[in-house]
Amino acid sequence: MGTTLFKIHKNSLTATSKFMKDIYLIANWKMNPATLKEAEQLSASISGGIKKIKPKKNINVVICPPYLYLKSVSHKSTQALQLGAQDCFWGKQGAYTGAVSAPMLKDIGCRYVILGHSERREYFGEDDALINKKVRAALLSGLRPVLAIGEKTRNTFDGRGRHTNELDTIIEEQLRGALKGISSAQAANLIIIYEPVWAISKGNPHHQTATSDDVLTAILFIRKVLANLYSKTLAKRIPVLYGGSTTSRNLRSFLDDGGADGALVGGASLKADEFIKMIKVCEA
Ligand code: PGA
Repeated sequence: MGTTLFKIHKNSLTATSKFMKDIYLIANWKMNPATLKEAEQLSASISGGIKKIKPKKNINVVICPPYLYLKSVSHKSTQALQLGAQDCFWGKQGAYTGAVSAPMLKDIGCRYVILGHSERREYFGEDDALINKKVRAALLSGLRPVLAIGEKTRNTFDGRGRHTNELDTIIEEQLRGALKGISSAQAANLIIIYEPVWAISKGNPHHQTATSDDVLTAILFIRKVLANLYSKTLAKRIPVLYGGSTTSRNLRSFLDDGGADGALVGGASLKADEFIKMIKVCEA
C-alpha cells in the first residue's frame, strides 16, 4: 500500500488493549446443528453457562444461528447473549425470492450480521461489490456488520511470520471494496474479522493453524488501511477480531499476543462446554 499514515507497534497495541475495550466472542454456527431441537438445546446450554459466569460488561457474546433457528433462539438472547445472523440481502423488501433482509433480521432481534465470510465468497459467488451493498443495507437498518476478510492460502506469509505484499494487496482490496462509500460515522459501527481461509477448521483435523504473530501482523495492517480510509482514532477503535480454528486452548494467545479484540468461532461454538470455556478465557 502507499504511504503509511501512522504506525502501531505491538507494545502500544497491547498497552491500549489493557484499558479498553470491548471483547467480542461471536459464534458462527454455519449450517448447524441439523435440527431445531438441537439448536434450542445448544442455545439453552450456552445461556445457562453465561448466567453462571456473569461476564463483565465489556465481554460481548453473540450467537449467529441459521436463519430458521433465529426466532426460537432469540428467546435466550439477553444483554449477555446477543443475537446475530450469518448473512443478509441488500434489498429491504419485495420480489427477491429466497432472500432475507437486514430490517427483517433487526425486527427479529438481531444486532449483528456476518458479511463477506469466505464461505459466502466461495459457495455463493459473493464479491466485494455485493458485500459492499450488504454492508450498506446492514448499517442503514441499524445492524452491526461483522465483516470477514482474509487470504486464501498461506503462501502470502514469508515463513517468518511476516506478510508479503500479496497479503497486503488482498486485505486492502477486500477492505476498500467492502467499505466503499461508508462514512466515518457509519464505520464506527463496524466489526472486522481477520479470517485467513487456510486456517478455518471446516471439520478437517489437519487444517493449518495461524500463529499469534500471523494474526498480529495482519491486524496491524488492517488498522493501517482503516487509518488511511478514515482516521487513526477510528482505526484504533474499530474492533478487529481473529477467526480460524480458535479454541479455549489457543484463544488467549490471539487476544494477548495477536492483538485481536475477540474471535469469530466456528466449530468450537457448537460444543456448549467448549464455548463456555472460551467465554471464561475472555473474562480472565
Ligand atoms: P472455525 O470456523 O472456527 O471452525 O475454523 C471459523 C469461521 O469460519 O467462522
